[in-house]
Amino acid sequence: MKAYELRQHFEKLFGEHPRIFRAPGRVNLIGEHTDYNEGFVMPAAVAFSTYVAIAPRADRKLVIHSEEFPGNFAFDLENLPERRTGSWSDYVLGVASVLQKHGRTFPGANLLVHGEVPIGAGLSSSAAVEVASALALMSTDAFQLPLPETAKLCREAENAFVGARVGIMDQFVSCMGKAGHALLLDCRSLEFQYVPIPPGIRLVVCNTMVKHDLATGAYNVRREQCEEGVRYFAKWDTAIRALRDVSVELLERHAHDLPPTIYKRCTHVICENQRTVDAARALTEADLPQVGRLMRESHNSLRDLYEVTCRELDIMVEAAEGLPGFCGGRMTGGGFGGCTINLVQEENADDFSKQIAERYRLGTGINPQVYLCTAEDGAGELI
Ligand code: GLA
Repeated sequence: MKAYELRQHFEKLFGEHPRIFRAPGRVNLIGEHTDYNEGFVMPAAVAFSTYVAIAPRADRKLVIHSEEFPGNFAFDLENLPERRTGSWSDYVLGVASVLQKHGRTFPGANLLVHGEVPIGAGLSSSAAVEVASALALMSTDAFQLPLPETAKLCREAENAFVGARVGIMDQFVSCMGKAGHALLLDCRSLEFQYVPIPPGIRLVVCNTMVKHDLATGAYNVRREQCEEGVRYFAKWDTAIRALRDVSVELLERHAHDLPPTIYKRCTHVICENQRTVDAARALTEADLPQVGRLMRESHNSLRDLYEVTCRELDIMVEAAEGLPGFCGGRMTGGGFGGCTINLVQEENADDFSKQIAERYRLGTGINPQVYLCTAEDGAGELI
């Protein structure tokens, strides 16, 4: 349906038949701020997607239009900007620029972007644009990288071009997600395993409507604080390359020598890794009470130790407690606003959505959006 309309719009704009590529956004069930510490994450791809329609041009221009984002752009592939320009087209440009840096040549192209992933809601709208654009641009070169490599390339675009020092989680699950499953990813080796979401469980995503912006400030500061932790621990054990390598014992031995903020950040990351592995096991065994406990611990740790929640996220998490069918919930994504993820029994999902929205409205005066989601497949071409 969507593909049909996008194709028609493209043909009207550019007078040609496009190929269309889709990449989904994601929710993260648990494992927050662990990916850039080479730890574990457990996200799932969801149905919100970005679509990129593309057809090659005879010249070396990259023409980028969108159905919902403002501005039409034209760039010369021989002379792409080297850094972010400050518009949404940066996510497409970044990918084009990194592909070129890796020696891929591709012809000029017309692109039409249709994005459905809510922006700034912590559901990876940027990764969805990057991955769909990467697949689209590579298709004009008749060369496809394997999907995990595509994920790495998109992450590089966001790090080097856009300037957000994000980890690999969002791009990876956008590429590799699987319907009905979460994906337990080891962000060091990129080994992964699919973890079935028990039948009858819905992913209820609650948007606080407080927007975040990863490219500036707090996210990169958290990363630097983790790096400071790694430098400290590496003095005691030269094999330590990331917080992934630091045991709880080593952390506790140095609890009083680390600056208090660094200690808090490290404690979150080190314990969150363990929680993620434990939650994957519990989910596999359909032990939902245990998954719920771990999700709640994760949220508390993000609130008190990593300090990336906000009042609205905390209220939304509290609002879920005690509602019928609620199995577990927490903030999801980078934080500072955005969404919570809740595991809810299917038969209660509609009622849960209404009640949580009402409680949140009462607590904050803000009208939230609530999305009933299931885990979906990762990126690909629409035929
Ligand atoms: C953002 C980043 C991810 C990850 C999360 C926090 O979504 O894009 O790489 O770091 O924040 O877990």
